[in-house]
Amino acid sequence: MSRSSFETNKVIAAVLVTLLLGHLAGLLSDALIHPVMPEKHAYAPVDVAAVSTSGGGGESASAEAAIEPIAPLLSLASVERGQAIAKKCTACHSLVKDGPNMVGPRMWGVVGGHQRHIADYAYSKAFQGLTGEWSYEELNKFLVKPAKYAPGTKMSFAGIKSAQERADLILYLRTLGDSPPPLP
Ligand code: HEC
Repeated sequence: MSRSSFETNKVIAAVLVTLLLGHLAGLLSDALIHPVMPEKHAYAPVDVAAVSTSGGGGESASAEAAIEPIAPLLSLASVERGQAIAKKCTACHSLVKDGPNMVGPRMWGVVGGHQRHIADYAYSKAFQGLTGEWSYEELNKFLVKPAKYAPGTKMSFAGIKSAQERADLILYLRTLGDSPPPLP
């Protein structure tokens, strides 16, 4: 082998080794830094309906969303519509003055009354901690989903999703008392 071809071979060998090392390095880095695609988007798509704070009726609001205040809706509420909605309650509640306790306590005087307003009714454990007042807003929060307001309550009633229907109902309940609180 001539000296020059030996030199040429060395150069070719060097090039081959470089290429080979480069290839190996590529394989190695592929194996080491295998790109793992995240399963979730870094930015979760925003649920516009749930975030919306504007009105638009309780129907669209999820149970998790903030409960719409009832005060502004009371002025648009109808006692007649409320009376119709209250038929859902009469399976368990008497709505007349001095009515009997049934599955649930009688309703007379509940609006503006204290929570657990009937002395001779056996409330559940879930209700024992309630010491506030059935203001318009508390009734609103309770009636949207009783089981959420008082977990473990024996009032087995799913709740009333529509804020306007709750306003109608509460305005009607207000007529069932001797001294209802003034409207907000
Ligand atoms: C399936 C029976 C049932 C139905 C239907 C029902 N309730 Fe009740 N309700 C109860 C029971 C039972 C309680 C007592 C809750 C407890 O002790 O956990 C109660 C408690 C209440 C209370 C609290 C009273 C207090 O003295 O603190 C209010 C207010 C109330 N119900 C309103 C209503 C309204 C309004 C409706 C109709 C939209 C309704 N309920 C439908 C069974 C029912």
